[in-house]
Amino acid sequence: MVHYIRFLRAPQCDASKKTVGVSAVLAVQTDLSDALLSQDVVLRAEIVEANSPWRVLHSQSLQWQPTSRALKFTIQCPGKYTSWPIQLHVTTQQTQSAVNLSEIPEILDIWSCAFLLSDKQRSEPIVERRLALWNNTTVRIWEDIGESMARHIWDASLGFVMYLARALSSSPPSGGGTLAALVKSGKVRKLKVLELGAGCGIVGIAFAQLVKCDMYLTDLDDAQEVLGKNIRCASLMAGSTLQADVLDWSSGLEDSTNPNFDLILVSDCIYNPDRSVHLVEILRQLAARAPNTLILVGFKRRHEADTVFFEHMRKTKFEIVESTNIPLPHRPSDYDADTPTTEFYTYRRQTVV
Ligand SMILES: C[S@@+](CC[C@H](N)C(=O)[O-])C[C@H]1O[C@@H](n2cnc3c(N)ncnc32)[C@H](O)[C@@H]1O
Repeated sequence: MVHYIRFLRAPQCDASKKTVGVSAVLAVQTDLSDALLSQDVVLRAEIVEANSPWRVLHSQSLQWQPTSRALKFTIQCPGKYTSWPIQLHVTTQQTQSAVNLSEIPEILDIWSCAFLLSDKQRSEPIVERRLALWNNTTVRIWEDIGESMARHIWDASLGFVMYLARALSSSPPSGGGTLAALVKSGKVRKLKVLELGAGCGIVGIAFAQLVKCDMYLTDLDDAQEVLGKNIRCASLMAGSTLQADVLDWSSGLEDSTNPNFDLILVSDCIYNPDRSVHLVEILRQLAARAPNTLILVGFKRRHEADTVFFEHMRKTKFEIVESTNIPLPHRPSDYDADTPTTEFYTYRRQTVV
């Protein structure tokens, strides 16, 4: 299971004469926040300059224990940095090693938003995740501290980034060849790509940083603010464009919706059987306008009800042209022995003869 360092309480400063205390409360949890890491791990809390090159000004080790439910801490930072915009970064040594190798870590680190050590207010309840891609760009994703469905990243999206790394490598393994061939064809004509239920936009943004494309990130109204922020932080491949829009599967497609998508990405969107019906209907409408559209669905199996989506896809005459499983990073423990996987299915609409 991947674990995420989360702030249960955003950082807050308390200045004395010589030092500034930066306090926060964190937990190391799963993506659904339904389980805590039950292992010993040494965390490193760093006070970092808020702008590149993000120099570490001060750091302190913290101990997360198998029985920890929350970890309250204060870092005493030298007072000389009071007027500098800083971020609080909490990470592990293993996380940094994975990031240096452009791999997805077992424990995702966290970056607070920027604040001044002289601020009295608690910092804003948004945080940043950073994933290093193998083309030397970093996907920077802001997410909410709270429990919103759309405004934080999900395990399947990490599996998706791993899938893209494999499928777009010089020798794609089985299960990624169709996407690789499409991307190759896009070298002649820029690809038009749509992401449905994009949430914070991690999958579509990673894609647009790796492949020249026009990327349309769509979700409900609830996700638009965070999508806009993440679009502004993207380091796009030269020639790529990114835009976000509302597309509610239950409202159907508008006539003005751009019809000619080469590829549609769907990450972790099939967990709700009622919504799956609307999702398949939107896919049907899109495929009716562009019959060659490739649809790439990635998800982490959690419920029996996940099968509803596949059943509707079959009935709607979508055929699976490729499938593969990608294991997620995992540290086995007594309560968490099985390696979690993300499943990927590549679909095309069957041609009616
Ligand atoms: C589990 S989240 C996955 C987010 C993102 N794709 C990821 O993998 O991190 C499911 C997403 O589907 C979106 N969603 C749910 N119902 C929707 C609908 N009717 N129309 C559009 N998006 C919807 C949610 O807002 C949410 O962002």
